[in-house]
Amino acid sequence: MSNFAYLPLESKGWRMAMGLRPLDLDHWLEVDDRRDDELEQKRQLLDTVFDVVVATNPEGDEGSRELLGEVTRYLDAHQPELTIEVRREEHPIVAAARLVQEDLCVLVRSDVWRLQAACVCFPSRWNLASKLGTTLDDIHRPVPTYDVELSRPTNAFFERLKSDRSFWRLNWTLIDSPALHQPTSARRSPHGELADWFFRVERQTLRRLPESGAIVFTIHNYVASAKELCEAHEDFGATLLLNLDTAPPAMQEYKGWVGVADRLRASLDPEPRLSRE
Ligand code: HEM
Repeated sequence: MSNFAYLPLESKGWRMAMGLRPLDLDHWLEVDDRRDDELEQKRQLLDTVFDVVVATNPEGDEGSRELLGEVTRYLDAHQPELTIEVRREEHPIVAAARLVQEDLCVLVRSDVWRLQAACVCFPSRWNLASKLGTTLDDIHRPVPTYDVELSRPTNAFFERLKSDRSFWRLNWTLIDSPALHQPTSARRSPHGELADWFFRVERQTLRRLPESGAIVFTIHNYVASAKELCEAHEDFGATLLLNLDTAPPAMQEYKGWVGVADRLRASLDPEPRLSRE
């Protein structure tokens, strides 16, 4: 049985939704058995491609300092067995991101909410530098139907978010590589066998910090092979197929899924049964 943390497929087919749920801050960040490996990957990325995985404006400094304090307090309270070394000489969002599996983003309100600091080591095919200083609408410009379906409610949600009520949501995709660090936006349709396809889930949290008033957005990635998930969960393959089949063509294009449903259908039922007359 797979112990994959989240399977957020829609049982009735593709749906574009905010899908926000209340977050108990005792479960703000998640620690699992991939922690050592993922923190090591972050360390190497920060050593080799710092400008790809970190982007900061001075407007994000205050929120980033407060975020570092929140992260260390959280780990002290909830994971006291972990050894935490805070690198005070670094930008606080980098120091914070080294301690947790999550990618971290700080948004600050000026004329509108803008992304002003981020350490994103594990982007799912997007480029961090191009999003720094931009608005929620600009960040999501490549996402089909975001402007008509999600822009208004997401902006309104940011305006209303208070520090005493936090939220989380899940995002998923099917992708042709298990690598966590995928900074380029080129999307290729998954090819090959079912075992070569990967189900990637982002657990995202949103909270407003009490002192600076900045909003923190965290992303924790979970990846599993589609084949393993099909074997472990009876309905997974059929539900995945339904979600791929019912996603609008522009979304299929954006996600790199064109033609994938047909391949999946063939993999799920490789030898169509002969009908007996
Ligand atoms: C309630 C809040 C939010 C909602 C409902 C939302 C929704 C979405 C959706 C539906 C997508 C399409 C992703 C996919 O299926 O592949 C997306 C992509 C994305 N989101 Fe959000 N999002 C939210 C907040 C944020 C925040 C705060 C950031 C800040 C960094 C962000 C950054 C991104 C980026 C970078 C992408 C990829 C865009 C690209 O392809 O260039 N999102 N978001």
